[in-house]
Amino acid sequence: MAEIDSNTKVVVLTGAGISAESGIRTFRDADGLWENHAIEDVATPYAWQANPELVWQFYQARRRQLLGVEPNSAHRALVDLERFLGDNFLLVTQNVDDLHGRAGSKNLIHMHGELRILRCEKCHETFDYMSNEHLTDQYVACPSCGNERLRPHIVWFHEVPLQMSEIYSAVEQCDVFITIGTSGHVYPAAGLIEVARQNGAYCIGINLDNPMNIDLHDEFLQGKAGELLPKYVKKIIN
Ligand code: APR
Repeated sequence: MAEIDSNTKVVVLTGAGISAESGIRTFRDADGLWENHAIEDVATPYAWQANPELVWQFYQARRRQLLGVEPNSAHRALVDLERFLGDNFLLVTQNVDDLHGRAGSKNLIHMHGELRILRCEKCHETFDYMSNEHLTDQYVACPSCGNERLRPHIVWFHEVPLQMSEIYSAVEQCDVFITIGTSGHVYPAAGLIEVARQNGAYCIGINLDNPMNIDLHDEFLQGKAGELLPKYVKKIIN
């Protein structure tokens, strides 16, 4: 086990697996389908241009789903770890759900965007819109510039993830890098562990199945994040 004290700089990368025990399906557990849709039909800018209604309804359903799920013990364990490490902790998530934030994580980057937020492609403003009027299948207009159709604030395939320079800078400087619930299929997220290793970080993985980049981890715990992570964090803090 890694030596971690309150001066250790830790970056955690989470993926869909950490929210699985809250009842949100992962991406690659259903033959490449995501909630019965091919990813290219709903999660690319081309899909949004060609078939905005389908894409909008798909994301509105994902947004409504957030109202029925709760953070689990793995999300909460990361809040405990952040309390212990303070500014030495950064959580980078690929997840677009809001469970880390609702659990209480503060130093948090949503590199693939957030379901809670809608964005205007004309004036570029973003809106945290989760009230009932914003969750129907009707498009939501931009209150600032009048554009009739806000889009999901989601980084689709072929788009560039958010806050990458901040992420690289933290990963380059960290002492310990932890991946949780991510299959290691999607770049650049899957490549962050290589950056961490090159800079001498100790790399830990917690995942139900072997991730693609399992060999890059110094330590790997196989199992459910909700069971393994709270115990791991408790050991660090004590
Ligand atoms: N605890 C830990 N790991 C789990 C659990 C659990 N309870 N349940 C599932 N897993 C693991 C699976 O074994 C799998 O390796 O979580 C991983 C989830 O992998 P993916 O579904 O590929 O999700 P992720 O790695 O987050 O996908 C990355 O791909 O489609 C895009 O943009 C989307 O952010 C997403 C990106």
